[in-house]
Amino acid sequence: MKSSDVALLRALHSSAAHQLPGDLCEALALSQAALGERLEALSAAGFGIERHPTLGVRLVSTPDRLVADDLLARIVPGGLIREIVLLAETDSTNNRAADAGRIGAAAGLVIFAEAQSAGRGRFGRAWASASHRGLWFSLLLRPEFPFSLWPRLTTWTAVALARAIEAQTGCLAQIKWPNDVFLDGRKVAGILIETGVDASGAPFAVVGIGLNVNQTTVDFPEELRSRATSIRKATDHAIDRPALAAAILDELHAQWPLLADSFPQIVSEAERRSVLIGKWVAIKAGEEVSEGFAEGLDSEGLLLLRDGRGEVHAVNAGEATLLTGIEK
Ligand code: BTN
Repeated sequence: MKSSDVALLRALHSSAAHQLPGDLCEALALSQAALGERLEALSAAGFGIERHPTLGVRLVSTPDRLVADDLLARIVPGGLIREIVLLAETDSTNNRAADAGRIGAAAGLVIFAEAQSAGRGRFGRAWASASHRGLWFSLLLRPEFPFSLWPRLTTWTAVALARAIEAQTGCLAQIKWPNDVFLDGRKVAGILIETGVDASGAPFAVVGIGLNVNQTTVDFPEELRSRATSIRKATDHAIDRPALAAAILDELHAQWPLLADSFPQIVSEAERRSVLIGKWVAIKAGEEVSEGFAEGLDSEGLLLLRDGRGEVHAVNAGEATLLTGIEK
Protein backbone atom coordinates (compact mmCIF):
# COMPACT_ATOMS: atom_id res chain seq x y z
CA MET A 1 0.00 0.00 0.00
CA LYS A 2 1.09 3.58 -0.61
CA SER A 3 1.19 6.42 1.89
CA SER A 4 -1.89 7.94 0.22
CA ASP A 5 -3.86 4.92 1.48
CA VAL A 6 -3.97 6.35 5.00
CA ALA A 7 -5.76 9.45 3.73
CA LEU A 8 -8.02 7.41 1.44
CA LEU A 9 -8.92 4.94 4.19
CA ARG A 10 -9.54 7.82 6.58
CA ALA A 11 -11.93 9.35 4.05
CA LEU A 12 -13.68 6.00 3.49
CA HIS A 13 -14.01 5.38 7.24
CA SER A 14 -15.36 8.90 7.77
CA SER A 15 -18.73 8.20 6.15
CA ALA A 16 -21.13 5.27 6.23
CA ALA A 17 -22.68 6.63 3.03
CA HIS A 18 -21.37 6.53 -0.54
CA GLN A 19 -18.97 9.24 -1.60
CA LEU A 20 -18.59 10.58 -5.12
CA PRO A 21 -15.24 9.73 -6.73
CA GLY A 22 -14.88 13.36 -7.81
CA ASP A 23 -15.21 14.54 -4.20
CA LEU A 24 -12.66 11.97 -3.01
CA CYS A 25 -10.24 12.94 -5.80
CA GLU A 26 -10.52 16.59 -4.85
CA ALA A 27 -10.17 16.01 -1.11
CA LEU A 28 -7.19 13.70 -1.55
CA ALA A 29 -5.56 15.46 -4.52
CA LEU A 30 -5.70 12.26 -6.59
CA SER A 31 -6.51 11.81 -10.27
CA GLN A 32 -9.50 9.60 -11.16
CA ALA A 33 -7.05 7.00 -12.48
CA ALA A 34 -4.98 7.04 -9.27
CA LEU A 35 -8.12 6.76 -7.13
CA GLY A 36 -9.33 3.78 -9.21
CA GLU A 37 -5.95 2.12 -8.82
CA ARG A 38 -5.86 2.65 -5.04
CA LEU A 39 -9.43 1.35 -4.63
CA GLU A 40 -8.48 -1.75 -6.62
CA ALA A 41 -5.46 -2.30 -4.38
CA LEU A 42 -7.61 -1.96 -1.26
CA SER A 43 -10.14 -4.45 -2.65
CA ALA A 44 -7.31 -6.87 -3.42
CA ALA A 45 -6.10 -6.44 0.18
CA GLY A 46 -9.52 -7.57 1.45
CA PHE A 47 -11.35 -4.27 2.00
CA GLY A 48 -14.96 -4.51 0.82
CA ILE A 49 -15.54 -1.50 -1.39
CA GLU A 50 -18.96 -1.04 -2.91
CA ARG A 51 -19.18 0.96 -6.15
CA HIS A 52 -22.53 2.41 -7.14
CA PRO A 53 -22.93 3.88 -10.63
CA THR A 54 -24.41 7.18 -9.42
CA LEU A 55 -23.86 7.32 -5.64
CA GLY A 56 -20.14 6.55 -5.69
CA VAL A 57 -18.00 4.38 -3.43
CA ARG A 58 -18.47 3.10 0.09
CA LEU A 59 -16.44 0.97 2.50
CA VAL A 60 -18.66 -1.94 3.53
CA SER A 61 -16.22 -4.28 5.26
CA THR A 62 -12.64 -4.55 6.41
CA PRO A 63 -10.47 -7.67 6.66
CA ASP A 64 -10.07 -9.51 9.96
CA ARG A 65 -6.40 -8.77 10.06
CA LEU A 66 -4.43 -5.80 11.15
CA VAL A 67 -3.28 -3.41 8.43
CA ALA A 68 -0.97 -0.60 9.57
CA ASP A 69 -2.41 2.06 7.22
CA ASP A 70 -5.94 1.10 8.19
CA LEU A 71 -5.17 1.41 11.91
CA LEU A 72 -3.51 4.77 11.36
CA ALA A 73 -6.52 5.89 9.31
CA ARG A 74 -8.90 5.04 12.15
CA ILE A 75 -7.17 6.92 14.99
CA VAL A 76 -6.99 10.57 15.95
CA PRO A 77 -4.43 12.14 13.59
CA GLY A 78 -1.45 14.01 15.01
CA GLY A 79 -1.88 12.47 18.46
CA LEU A 80 0.22 10.30 20.75
CA ILE A 81 0.52 7.56 18.10
CA ARG A 82 2.83 8.64 15.31
CA GLU A 83 3.68 5.47 13.43
CA ILE A 84 2.25 1.94 13.30
CA VAL A 85 4.23 -1.08 12.19
CA LEU A 86 2.57 -4.43 11.59
CA LEU A 87 4.60 -7.63 11.73
CA ALA A 88 3.22 -10.99 10.62
CA GLU A 89 5.20 -12.70 13.38
CA THR A 90 7.98 -11.83 15.80
CA ASP A 91 9.34 -13.23 19.05
CA SER A 92 8.00 -10.38 21.18
CA THR A 93 6.72 -6.96 20.13
CA ASN A 94 8.36 -5.60 23.31
CA ASN A 95 11.72 -6.72 21.87
CA ARG A 96 11.03 -4.98 18.56
CA ALA A 97 9.93 -1.74 20.26
CA ALA A 98 12.99 -1.84 22.55
CA ASP A 99 15.25 -2.36 19.49
CA ALA A 100 13.68 0.74 17.96
CA GLY A 101 14.09 2.64 21.24
CA ARG A 102 17.77 1.71 21.50
CA ILE A 103 18.53 3.11 18.05
CA GLY A 104 16.78 6.36 18.88
CA ALA A 105 13.30 5.94 17.36
CA ALA A 106 10.92 8.70 18.36
CA ALA A 107 8.07 8.20 20.82
CA GLY A 108 4.69 7.21 19.44
CA LEU A 109 5.79 4.15 17.50
CA VAL A 110 3.47 1.16 17.91
CA ILE A 111 4.48 -2.33 16.84
CA PHE A 112 1.76 -4.95 16.39
CA ALA A 113 2.35 -8.60 15.57
CA GLU A 114 -0.32 -11.04 14.40
CA ALA A 115 1.63 -13.78 16.18
CA GLN A 116 4.42 -13.90 18.78
CA SER A 117 6.70 -16.91 19.12
CA ALA A 118 8.05 -15.83 22.51
CA GLY A 119 5.51 -13.39 23.93
CA ARG A 120 6.34 -12.75 27.56
CA GLY A 121 4.49 -11.59 30.60
CA ARG A 122 5.51 -10.40 34.02
CA PHE A 123 7.78 -12.50 36.22
CA GLY A 124 9.41 -14.00 33.09
CA ARG A 125 6.29 -15.98 32.25
CA ALA A 126 5.32 -16.90 28.71
CA TRP A 127 2.40 -15.01 27.18
CA ALA A 128 0.25 -17.19 24.91
CA SER A 129 -0.25 -15.20 21.70
CA ALA A 130 -2.53 -17.22 19.41
CA SER A 131 -2.09 -16.19 15.79
CA HIS A 132 -4.66 -13.61 14.57
CA ARG A 133 -6.78 -14.10 17.68
CA GLY A 134 -5.67 -11.28 19.90
CA LEU A 135 -4.00 -7.89 19.97
CA TRP A 136 -0.29 -8.18 20.75
CA PHE A 137 1.44 -4.83 20.58
CA SER A 138 3.99 -2.48 22.13
CA LEU A 139 4.13 1.29 22.28
CA LEU A 140 7.43 3.15 22.49
CA LEU A 141 7.30 6.22 24.73
CA ARG A 142 9.78 8.82 25.92
CA PRO A 143 7.84 10.54 28.70
CA GLU A 144 9.09 14.00 29.48
CA PHE A 145 8.04 13.89 33.12
CA PRO A 146 10.53 12.74 35.80
CA PHE A 147 11.59 9.09 35.74
CA SER A 148 10.26 8.71 39.29
CA LEU A 149 6.75 9.15 37.87
CA TRP A 150 7.10 6.56 35.10
CA PRO A 151 5.41 3.84 37.22
CA ARG A 152 2.23 5.81 36.53
CA LEU A 153 2.34 4.37 33.02
CA THR A 154 0.93 1.09 34.34
CA THR A 155 -2.24 2.62 35.78
CA TRP A 156 -2.65 4.86 32.73
CA THR A 157 -2.45 1.86 30.41
CA ALA A 158 -4.79 -0.28 32.50
CA VAL A 159 -7.44 2.44 32.65
CA ALA A 160 -7.23 3.21 28.92
CA LEU A 161 -7.44 -0.49 28.08
CA ALA A 162 -10.42 -1.06 30.36
CA ARG A 163 -12.25 1.99 28.98
CA ALA A 164 -11.72 0.93 25.37
CA ILE A 165 -12.78 -2.67 26.02
CA GLU A 166 -15.89 -1.49 27.82
CA ALA A 167 -16.79 1.01 25.09
CA GLN A 168 -16.47 -1.63 22.38
CA THR A 169 -18.22 -4.47 24.21
CA GLY A 170 -20.60 -2.90 26.69
CA CYS A 171 -19.16 -5.27 29.35
CA LEU A 172 -17.75 -4.02 32.63
CA ALA A 173 -13.95 -4.17 32.37
CA GLN A 174 -12.19 -4.37 35.72
CA ILE A 175 -8.59 -3.84 36.72
CA LYS A 176 -6.72 -6.31 38.87
CA TRP A 177 -3.99 -4.17 40.33
CA PRO A 178 -1.51 -3.49 38.99
CA ASN A 179 -1.32 -4.87 35.45
CA ASP A 180 -4.30 -6.97 34.49
CA VAL A 181 -7.69 -6.29 32.96
CA PHE A 182 -10.52 -8.64 33.84
CA LEU A 183 -13.85 -9.49 32.20
CA ASP A 184 -16.32 -11.75 33.97
CA GLY A 185 -13.85 -12.42 36.78
CA ARG A 186 -11.11 -13.71 34.44
CA LYS A 187 -8.01 -12.15 32.99
CA VAL A 188 -8.53 -10.82 29.47
CA ALA A 189 -5.44 -8.60 29.14
CA GLY A 190 -2.01 -8.07 30.63
CA ILE A 191 0.46 -5.20 30.53
CA LEU A 192 4.23 -5.48 30.53
CA ILE A 193 6.15 -2.22 30.84
CA GLU A 194 9.90 -2.26 30.29
CA THR A 195 12.43 0.55 30.12
CA GLY A 196 15.76 1.09 28.40
CA VAL A 197 18.17 3.75 27.21
CA ASP A 198 19.39 4.62 23.73
CA ALA A 199 23.00 5.32 22.66
CA SER A 200 22.73 8.95 23.78
CA GLY A 201 21.60 7.85 27.24
CA ALA A 202 18.01 8.99 26.71
CA PRO A 203 15.53 6.71 28.50
CA PHE A 204 12.50 5.15 26.87
CA ALA A 205 9.59 3.00 27.98
CA VAL A 206 7.98 0.14 26.12
CA VAL A 207 4.35 -0.43 27.00
CA GLY A 208 3.46 -3.99 25.97
CA ILE A 209 -0.19 -4.97 25.80
CA GLY A 210 -1.57 -8.44 25.29
CA LEU A 211 -5.35 -8.63 24.84
CA ASN A 212 -7.24 -11.86 24.27
CA VAL A 213 -9.88 -11.03 21.69
CA ASN A 214 -11.28 -13.83 19.55
CA GLN A 215 -9.90 -16.99 21.13
CA THR A 216 -12.27 -19.81 21.90
CA THR A 217 -11.45 -22.19 24.76
CA VAL A 218 -9.32 -24.50 22.59
CA ASP A 219 -7.12 -21.58 21.50
CA PHE A 220 -5.81 -21.26 25.07
CA PRO A 221 -3.16 -23.59 26.49
CA GLU A 222 -4.91 -26.02 28.83
CA GLU A 223 -3.38 -24.59 32.00
CA LEU A 224 -4.84 -21.15 31.26
CA ARG A 225 -8.39 -22.22 30.44
CA SER A 226 -9.80 -21.79 33.94
CA ARG A 227 -8.09 -18.43 34.55
CA ALA A 228 -8.06 -16.60 31.23
CA THR A 229 -10.84 -15.38 28.99
CA SER A 230 -11.18 -13.59 25.69
CA ILE A 231 -13.61 -10.87 24.73
CA ARG A 232 -15.30 -13.39 22.44
CA LYS A 233 -15.79 -15.85 25.30
CA ALA A 234 -17.13 -13.13 27.58
CA THR A 235 -19.53 -11.61 25.02
CA ASP A 236 -20.36 -14.67 22.94
CA HIS A 237 -19.51 -12.99 19.68
CA ALA A 238 -16.47 -12.30 17.54
CA ILE A 239 -14.96 -8.86 17.80
CA ASP A 240 -13.64 -6.53 15.09
CA ARG A 241 -9.96 -6.51 16.12
CA PRO A 242 -8.89 -3.49 14.03
CA ALA A 243 -11.76 -1.39 15.46
CA LEU A 244 -10.81 -2.46 18.99
CA ALA A 245 -7.11 -1.77 18.39
CA ALA A 246 -7.93 1.73 17.14
CA ALA A 247 -10.21 2.35 20.14
CA ILE A 248 -7.39 1.39 22.52
CA LEU A 249 -4.86 3.64 20.79
CA ASP A 250 -7.34 6.53 20.86
CA GLU A 251 -8.03 5.95 24.54
CA LEU A 252 -4.30 5.92 25.35
CA HIS A 253 -4.07 9.21 23.47
CA ALA A 254 -7.10 10.68 25.26
CA GLN A 255 -5.80 9.77 28.73
CA TRP A 256 -2.20 10.83 28.03
CA PRO A 257 -2.53 14.49 29.16
CA LEU A 258 -3.93 13.32 32.52
CA LEU A 259 -0.81 11.29 33.29
CA ALA A 260 1.41 14.19 34.18
CA ASP A 261 -1.17 16.80 35.17
CA SER A 262 -4.29 15.13 36.53
CA PHE A 263 -3.16 11.69 37.63
CA PRO A 264 -5.69 11.51 40.52
CA GLN A 265 -8.41 11.26 37.87
CA ILE A 266 -6.78 8.14 36.45
CA VAL A 267 -6.27 6.71 39.93
CA SER A 268 -9.94 7.22 40.85
CA GLU A 269 -11.02 5.41 37.73
CA ALA A 270 -8.61 2.55 38.49
CA GLU A 271 -10.13 2.37 41.99
CA ARG A 272 -13.67 2.30 40.64
CA ARG A 273 -12.74 -0.57 38.33
CA SER A 274 -10.67 -2.46 40.87
CA VAL A 275 -11.11 -6.20 41.42
CA LEU A 276 -9.15 -6.09 44.68
CA ILE A 277 -10.34 -3.07 46.58
CA GLY A 278 -12.61 -3.94 49.47
CA LYS A 279 -11.28 -7.49 49.52
CA TRP A 280 -8.84 -9.49 51.63
CA VAL A 281 -5.85 -10.21 49.40
CA ALA A 282 -2.35 -11.67 49.31
CA ILE A 283 0.44 -9.85 47.48
CA LYS A 284 3.51 -11.82 46.44
CA ALA A 285 6.58 -9.69 45.78
CA GLY A 286 9.66 -11.83 45.14
CA GLU A 287 9.78 -14.41 47.91
CA GLU A 288 7.73 -12.25 50.25
CA VAL A 289 3.97 -12.63 50.64
CA SER A 290 1.94 -10.08 52.55
CA GLU A 291 -1.75 -10.30 53.20
CA GLY A 292 -4.24 -7.66 54.11
CA PHE A 293 -7.36 -5.72 53.28
CA ALA A 294 -7.09 -3.72 50.03
CA GLU A 295 -8.22 -0.26 51.14
CA GLY A 296 -7.65 1.67 47.94
CA LEU A 297 -4.90 3.21 45.82
CA ASP A 298 -2.67 6.07 46.89
CA SER A 299 -2.08 9.17 44.75
CA GLU A 300 0.58 7.32 42.70
CA GLY A 301 -1.50 4.20 42.14
CA LEU A 302 0.21 2.12 44.87
CA LEU A 303 -2.05 -0.40 46.59
CA LEU A 304 -2.95 0.51 50.17
CA LEU A 305 -2.98 -2.69 52.16
CA ARG A 306 -4.21 -2.80 55.79
CA ASP A 307 -2.44 -5.67 57.51
CA GLY A 308 -3.75 -7.91 60.28
CA ARG A 309 -2.56 -5.42 62.93
CA GLY A 310 -4.39 -2.53 61.28
CA GLU A 311 -1.31 -0.87 59.81
CA VAL A 312 -1.63 0.44 56.28
CA HIS A 313 1.23 -0.16 53.80
CA ALA A 314 1.58 1.26 50.28
CA VAL A 315 2.61 -1.62 48.02
CA ASN A 316 4.26 -0.69 44.73
CA ALA A 317 4.40 -4.02 42.90
CA GLY A 318 3.60 -7.68 43.16
CA GLU A 319 1.21 -10.37 42.18
CA ALA A 320 -2.17 -10.20 43.85
CA THR A 321 -4.45 -13.07 44.78
CA LEU A 322 -7.96 -12.68 46.15
CA LEU A 323 -8.16 -14.63 49.40
CA THR A 324 -11.90 -14.15 49.74
CA GLY A 325 -14.66 -12.37 47.94
CA ILE A 326 -16.17 -11.34 51.27
CA GLU A 327 -15.78 -7.75 52.38
CA LYS A 328 -14.20 -7.19 55.75
C1 BTN B 1 1.30 -10.07 31.94
O1 BTN B 1 0.09 -10.18 32.16
O2 BTN B 1 2.12 -10.71 32.60
C2 BTN B 1 1.77 -9.13 30.86
C3 BTN B 1 1.52 -9.69 29.48
C4 BTN B 1 1.99 -8.78 28.37
C5 BTN B 1 1.91 -9.43 27.00
C6 BTN B 1 2.20 -8.47 25.90
S1 BTN B 1 1.81 -9.13 24.32
C7 BTN B 1 2.61 -7.79 23.55
C8 BTN B 1 3.88 -7.54 24.33
N1 BTN B 1 4.94 -8.41 23.88
C9 BTN B 1 5.30 -9.28 24.84
O3 BTN B 1 6.18 -10.15 24.71
N2 BTN B 1 4.60 -9.07 25.95
C10 BTN B 1 3.64 -7.98 25.79
